[in-house]
Amino acid sequence: MRTHYCGEITEKLLNVDVTLCGWVHRRRDLGGVAFIQLRDREGIIQVVFEPDEAVLFAEAESLRYEFVVQVKGQVRARPEGMRNKDMATGAVEVVATELTILNRSAPPAVPVDKPADVSEELRLKYRYLDLRRPEMTARFKLRSDVSRSLRDYLDGHGFMDVETPILTKATPEGARDYLVPSRVHARHFYALPQSPQLFKQLLMMSGFDRYYQIVRCFRDEDLRADRQPEFTQLDIETSFMDEEGIMLLMENMMRHIFQKHLNVQLPEPFPRMSYEEAMTVYGSDKPDMRFDIALVDVSDQVCSMEFKVFSGPANAADSRVAAICVPDGARLSRKNIDDYSKYIARYGARGLAYLKVIDKDIGLDGVQSPVAKFFDEATLKAVLQKTAAENGDMIFFGADKTSVVNDTLGALRLKLAEDFDLISSEWKPLWVVDFPMFEEIDGRMHALHHPFTAPQTDNIEKLKSAPAETLSRAYDMVLNGSEIGGGSIRIHRPEMQSAIFDILGIDDKEADDKFGFLLEALKYGCPPHGGIAFGLDRLIMLMSGTDSIRDVIAFPKTTTASCPLTSAPSTVSQAQLDELHLRLKPTKDISGSEGS
Ligand code: AMO
Ligand code: AMP
Repeated sequence: MRTHYCGEITEKLLNVDVTLCGWVHRRRDLGGVAFIQLRDREGIIQVVFEPDEAVLFAEAESLRYEFVVQVKGQVRARPEGMRNKDMATGAVEVVATELTILNRSAPPAVPVDKPADVSEELRLKYRYLDLRRPEMTARFKLRSDVSRSLRDYLDGHGFMDVETPILTKATPEGARDYLVPSRVHARHFYALPQSPQLFKQLLMMSGFDRYYQIVRCFRDEDLRADRQPEFTQLDIETSFMDEEGIMLLMENMMRHIFQKHLNVQLPEPFPRMSYEEAMTVYGSDKPDMRFDIALVDVSDQVCSMEFKVFSGPANAADSRVAAICVPDGARLSRKNIDDYSKYIARYGARGLAYLKVIDKDIGLDGVQSPVAKFFDEATLKAVLQKTAAENGDMIFFGADKTSVVNDTLGALRLKLAEDFDLISSEWKPLWVVDFPMFEEIDGRMHALHHPFTAPQTDNIEKLKSAPAETLSRAYDMVLNGSEIGGGSIRIHRPEMQSAIFDILGIDDKEADDKFGFLLEALKYGCPPHGGIAFGLDRLIMLMSGTDSIRDVIAFPKTTTASCPLTSAPSTVSQAQLDELHLRLKPTKDISGSEGS
């Protein structure tokens, strides 16, 4: 039906007869000449209807937004002064000789020809219209192109693309499972995979050596801008490679993709940072390195103050006092500071002490702060020195349990960088390494990654005697403050896997019920192996310069995990429930049972 895409019409095609198909993006009448902008996937071209073709002209006048048309015509240069430098096709236009209206359109429920300043709910309800917007189309083209390049790269490096089940058994990655009831097996459920973790490990045991898959994962967790209940991983596993080999290969892949699609040169090698340093200095395991603000520990400087809010945590083993110094921050108003205080309260902060540095050389007379009265000259001097504060700066303090200080100042650091416009336009990837194996929550050990991650020691006795101190062979790839990938070397010996389950409080019976197949498989010649999974949505989100993964998923869910377009999730018929052997609780019982 067409000879060219609209976006392909350039000066190379001058005087060529073309046939185009697309949507009426805009239309206007100018001094008896009708113009439309015709849009398809590849771009927009101006089409001109001249008044001497009376029938054609009348037909053109009947066109409305988003009508679907076929236009035949000839390409000509736009008159001098009428060229549009902002349009790829802006030097030319098509003079129409024939117009066929292929379909009409109701007035679009969300605008297609301008930025969507309507609610996201409405955009998602009319997603097919929203996706027509050139800015959205461009993101999905990038996504398609990058996916193809990733496949090409991995194919070129000996990886096999293997599919793994979606109806499966729970794979723990730290979220709740989505369950699917079985019709055939009454009272039994499949779980949708949180990741293909166990299957990719089994494929290594099958000798496949190098596996990848672009695969959907399902996690029932609280949603945010960078989390969806179903999302896509580029999932990778290799045999006989250690962490150095895997990290090098993955860095090379990323450098290749960024060079090819964004013409950006990522650093070689990527910097590495220990989890400990990331948490202590940036308050986060995914530090954003695009600006300089850091958490400075001042526990030693404030430990002998009478001010218990500071000296208490400064002297407690599980607590700390840290400061962040904001260049030019002394101009913040009382109201600004209250707002920051409220902002970090949601991360558990009980207060936000601050100190405005007016003249650092004259001691206590040179600072403004509600807590100044608790400082003596020596303590103040030590704090100013440690934070390297300059006149005009603001120092914020966090004093609490270490985890609370890290979370709150880590979040404040990001917020201040945004508000003070400190974030550079560089790309800052890094590896975070040397994670602890476990974190202790309410007296129980939890795997910081997943329970199949190998510890840095092979000595089971040593591991069992000090699990909280043991580091893992895990690595996360972080880009501009986003965790875009995570992986590890895996446990490949059954005794070690059993020991980990034991530390996690999973008894033999539970281990056998849940992971018996893995423990069994580990007995049959399992190669040393390891891998990684990238969040493809997050990667494309960053590459396309947007801040929500919903912008790079064609049909995403809202933050309450629903789909305004299809109205999923929805109720089902009694017959379906009966077939699945399910009986629903009466509505009145549901709210009462939640949280139990
Ligand atoms: P992990 O749980 O770290 O590791 O997931 C890997 C990457 O997937 C992305 N991601 C998400 N993206 C969007 N929405 C979500 N809800 C979501 N959850 C995770 C992140 C993350 O870095 N099996 C292991 C990998 C391995 O060990 O090889 C795993 O799934 O970018
Ligand atoms: P208070 O003695 O509780 O009135 O607090 C005095 C100042 O210290 C106030 O500015 C509080 O915001 C601040 N503050 C209180 N608790 C903390 C804390 N845990 N970390 C940092 N500042 C705090």
